[in-house]
Amino acid sequence: MSRLDSFINRMSAQRDLINHVRGLVDLPAEGVVFEIGLGNGRTYSHLRECFDGRRIIAFDRKLAAHASATPAPEDFVEGEINQTGQAFLGWNSALVHADIGTGYDDKDAVTLTWLPQMVAGMLQSGGYAVSGLPLAHPELEEQPQLPTIQPGRYFHYRKR
Ligand SMILES: C[S@@+](CC[C@H](N)C(=O)[O-])C[C@H]1O[C@@H](n2cnc3c(N)ncnc32)[C@H](O)[C@@H]1O
Repeated sequence: MSRLDSFINRMSAQRDLINHVRGLVDLPAEGVVFEIGLGNGRTYSHLRECFDGRRIIAFDRKLAAHASATPAPEDFVEGEINQTGQAFLGWNSALVHADIGTGYDDKDAVTLTWLPQMVAGMLQSGGYAVSGLPLAHPELEEQPQLPTIQPGRYFHYRKR
């Protein structure tokens, strides 16, 4: 598969899963949304549309989002997420979206030494995680795949 096709698959899987979680009746009524890896802000912009009225806090090592998708200063956390995210453990978020995979197995393996634990710690019980990397953690229950998403492309979990 070309890298272009792979990218398109990843983006459509990401969008399908965020839209799916938006429609879930058991999504916690209270709680912030965390966007781990703001990047250009395209996903942040989509999260804003989907979760209108919720506070969305975004993380990245550097602010580089499009002007139209730049969070308010109090909703952007700059720095290495494995460090900056620590302050948000126990925040009882409703949803964490994480898009920080690199496509390099060795780099992603390092991320996976801390990301699952951090996501689990940020969520309330019953909250959801949507992630480009698999989050193996005893408190995160993998949810049934959507028919539109290829196995292993994008993942979603509910915190027990
Ligand atoms: C694939 S991009 C996210 C794209 C984003 N979903 C969008 O709509 O533009 C991943 C982003 O995560 C950030 N990132 C990756 N690992 C990080 C880390 N450990 N700490 C802080 N930022 C990180 C990168 O700087 C990059 O901007």
